[in-house]
Amino acid sequence: MDLLSGIESRTSAIKLTDPAPTGEHIERIIGAAVRAPDHGRLRPWRFVVLEGDARLALADAMGDLLLRKNPAATAEQLDRERRKPLRAPAIIAVAAHITPGKIPEIEQVLAVGAAVQNMMLAAHALGYGAMWKTGGAAYDAGIKQMLGLSADDHIVAFLYLGTTAVPGPRAPSSTEGIVRWLERT
Ligand SMILES: Cc1cc2nc3c(=O)[nH]c(=O)nc-3n(C[C@H](O)[C@H](O)[C@H](O)COP(=O)(O)O)c2cc1C
Repeated sequence: MDLLSGIESRTSAIKLTDPAPTGEHIERIIGAAVRAPDHGRLRPWRFVVLEGDARLALADAMGDLLLRKNPAATAEQLDRERRKPLRAPAIIAVAAHITPGKIPEIEQVLAVGAAVQNMMLAAHALGYGAMWKTGGAAYDAGIKQMLGLSADDHIVAFLYLGTTAVPGPRAPSSTEGIVRWLERT
């Protein structure tokens, strides 16, 4: 698959199933991430891989977060929340670890966003499906701690990975109304 066809054909999966990417493919996907542009070569990205039963720790932490936010949550709501990380056979939490200094924080976070897109394209090229998720869990200090991240790190994505069971629709490719060419005088 050439690069442009990969970009043009990628969609987020609506439903993922087994098999998860192999260990070798996960290494390749993360290898693609760290090729993203990175102002100052700060390597702001951090990756936490959760496969199989390792996802249960995230499921428990997401259940705890729901109860902290809403102590009156029903057993059904709790169950639904806990099942969220089980919707893909593998998840990679991708975070930005900020180095204070002359590179603005936003640029370090953007580098990690670019890394996530590289991961989605690499997964697509290797024949897997992916979904970029965040939600309240991405902003919670308890979840970050469970993942071994610091409270100041930014979780940029929970990248759900697996084999596409239901592909999502293609995003509109029209650039109408969003591009302006300045005429040369
Ligand atoms: C930073 C970021 C966070 C996102 N978080 C979620 C999310 O929590 N839940 C969700 O359903 N989609 C989320 N999305 C959107 C989907 O991952 C996806 O990009 C979108 O549905 C468009 O589909 P496409 O990738 O096929 O064009 C997020 C996207 C980005 C860039």
